[in-house]
Amino acid sequence: MGDPLINEIFKAELNQEEFSKLSSFIYNESGIKMPPVKRIMLQSRLQKRLKELRMTSFKEYCSYIFSKEGMNTEIIHMLDVVSTNKTDFFREPIHFDFLTSTVLPELLSSSKHRNIKIWSAGCSSGEEPYTIAIVLLEFLEKNPTFDFSILGTDISTKILQKAIDAVYKDERVEGIPYYLKQKYFLKSKDRDNPSVKMSSLLRNKIRFERLNFMENSYSVFDSFDIVFCRNVLIYFDRNTQEKVIGKICTKINTGGYFFLGHSESIMNMDLPLRQIKPTIFQKI
Ligand SMILES: C[S@@+](CC[C@H](N)C(=O)[O-])C[C@H]1O[C@@H](n2cnc3c(N)ncnc32)[C@H](O)[C@@H]1O
Repeated sequence: MGDPLINEIFKAELNQEEFSKLSSFIYNESGIKMPPVKRIMLQSRLQKRLKELRMTSFKEYCSYIFSKEGMNTEIIHMLDVVSTNKTDFFREPIHFDFLTSTVLPELLSSSKHRNIKIWSAGCSSGEEPYTIAIVLLEFLEKNPTFDFSILGTDISTKILQKAIDAVYKDERVEGIPYYLKQKYFLKSKDRDNPSVKMSSLLRNKIRFERLNFMENSYSVFDSFDIVFCRNVLIYFDRNTQEKVIGKICTKINTGGYFFLGHSESIMNMDLPLRQIKPTIFQKI
């Protein structure tokens, strides 16, 4: 039986017309492609919003989101549920090895770079920027001649809050070497719900901000030595990918590095980047 409202919501169907209106809106606002095969996925993700708003149909939801009030406030919540936030600590480890073996020694050999600036663009719940912070702090221990700061940005406010909270279930950090966990993670005392919190050593190095890649220009004022933008562009079409990377490039110092996800490519795009390895580039 349960709550009759919840039963109604689970019966609510997102019809083709509503889907096509919402998918064009999502595409225009976030660049995220929503082909027709994603209709059922969108329906089930948005049912959460219907529940929170106590609405029983997508007709009602569409009238709300396309109203003046909805346009201003609901868009943030909708993008929270439609974005795919899959991530991991030390994801694609080859990139972190390359940082230590090549990028950091090179940047430090030029006297300009004593304060290295890194951007994790599309940082999801923070595993990527925290991994970068661990790698840099480990390097710093052996080369105490520089400092660094990291900016993590994402479109989803909900996921950014997780990144700021910096608390992860134990199973998320299982594969990380014990000595790193001891150094950088604080274990919770709650035995029923084992989790870890990133230590202040890591948290003090990272600042999180909301940034939508669809904005005309990016209000991150820094110019970066290293940018990670991994597993984000796969959700965009090629034209949007090229525009987004072009705007990101304006924020990378000449000679700085740009990292993409393993299934992403910039082949035949007109960008000021030189390929170093399949997913590693240098700004020219
Ligand atoms: C799959 S996660 C990748 C996380 C991390 N970079 C990694 O490789 O593990 C993709 C992230 O891109 C974000 N995203 C999607 N569209 C975006 C946009 N238009 N602007 C900024 N971030 C966006 C999503 O919210 C999501 O957190």
